[in-house]
Amino acid sequence: MESWHATAAEIRRDDPVMRVEAEGWTPFWAVTRHADVFEVSRRSDIFWNTQKSAPGPDFQYDMLQGMGFELPKTLVHLHGDEHNKLRKVTNDWFKPAAVRNLQPAIDAIADEFADLLVELGGECDLAQDLAVPFTLRVIMSIFGVPPSDEAFMLQLTQGMFGAADPEYLGDFSDPLALVADTIGKFQAYFDELTASRRANPSDDLATVLANGRIDGEPLGEGELLWYYIIVATAGHDTTSFALSGGMEQLLRRPDQVQALRDDPDLLGNATEEMIRWTSPVRSFFRWAQEDTVLGDTEIAAGDVVLTSYPSANRDEDVFVDPMTFDVRRPDADKLLAFGLGMHYCLGAQVARREVRTMLGKILERTSSIELAGEPEWTGAHFVSGVKHLPVRYTLA
Ligand code: HEM
Repeated sequence: MESWHATAAEIRRDDPVMRVEAEGWTPFWAVTRHADVFEVSRRSDIFWNTQKSAPGPDFQYDMLQGMGFELPKTLVHLHGDEHNKLRKVTNDWFKPAAVRNLQPAIDAIADEFADLLVELGGECDLAQDLAVPFTLRVIMSIFGVPPSDEAFMLQLTQGMFGAADPEYLGDFSDPLALVADTIGKFQAYFDELTASRRANPSDDLATVLANGRIDGEPLGEGELLWYYIIVATAGHDTTSFALSGGMEQLLRRPDQVQALRDDPDLLGNATEEMIRWTSPVRSFFRWAQEDTVLGDTEIAAGDVVLTSYPSANRDEDVFVDPMTFDVRRPDADKLLAFGLGMHYCLGAQVARREVRTMLGKILERTSSIELAGEPEWTGAHFVSGVKHLPVRYTLA
């Protein structure tokens, strides 16, 4: 990512709204400055989300359709009234006051995984041993899915997002076949969950979805399936990469680890900095609905723009010394990693609580912690980050 960021900095300086014409892709404008990503996100009247919001080559969409799948219809693929109504179904559940009530559950889950540090005996893969299962358990507990189904759910989220990474391909030689198979498995699993929560409502998110109504009608089968998929997938890898990549940077700077140990009040700011630094969601596509101007560049109706969150989050016009990781950063609150406007990340408060809580627990349970090898990154390009983080520690 270091060289990626060096290139992105040049692009921000020389051609901040850059025309990209790559074989197999719909041509698009890469939007790399903070101000312009902000503008595209804010002006959702001009820049619409569509069913091709997730950046990818055209053949991905052609093949999915060829295999008989409809294009996705999750919150990030919808616009306007349709999006608003769907978002309203769970909006209250994710409001800051409601999310505050999740803190005891997040604490308990974080404690469980922090206990693992004792069992693991001084060395572990902080990404796979802690960040991945911890964030998965939180999102599954929000749904109301029992821990016994987590291994299965992990395969599903990795099948959706990690399909471009050979480590997650399993028996599939073709990433798209894996995605298609994954969607089928999600469908069967969530159909059963919906039926169970309709018969026996409880206080979890699955109950809200299963019994939610739009214009007085229950959500359709497809609407429900995509809702489950967006929350399960958007809520897992994203947060786990923020944690693993954030920890990697922290451990590269022992003085910053010490600063957090000395002053736990810095945990909140450190969390923002970890999310700014990692920006696990790399980008989204938006479709211009009318002629407009972005920076100095004319965008025509029908053009596609790509919002680059990692680039916006290193913009030297907004962040002082943006290439330095700093838990005391005064401008960390300017981060754009969660997007903005009507599609602003529904789970932003949950994600922040997860990262802050786990970071606090790791520091509490160890008296020293350091890298024990080189981190390894995923090959995925939509949501990606550090997937293996070898560390060595002594228990407190
Ligand atoms: C560090 C962790 C996370 C990051 C970086 C992240 C990032 C994002 C981004 C960039 C968007 C699109 C925003 C836009 O288009 O303006 C988004 C949307 C969304 N996120 Fe997150 N996210 C994270 C964690 C979560 C969690 C934990 C959940 C669920 C509990 C979640 C659920 C969603 C949903 C449902 C949407 C779609 C919202 C809409 O289109 O209305 N995310 N997220």
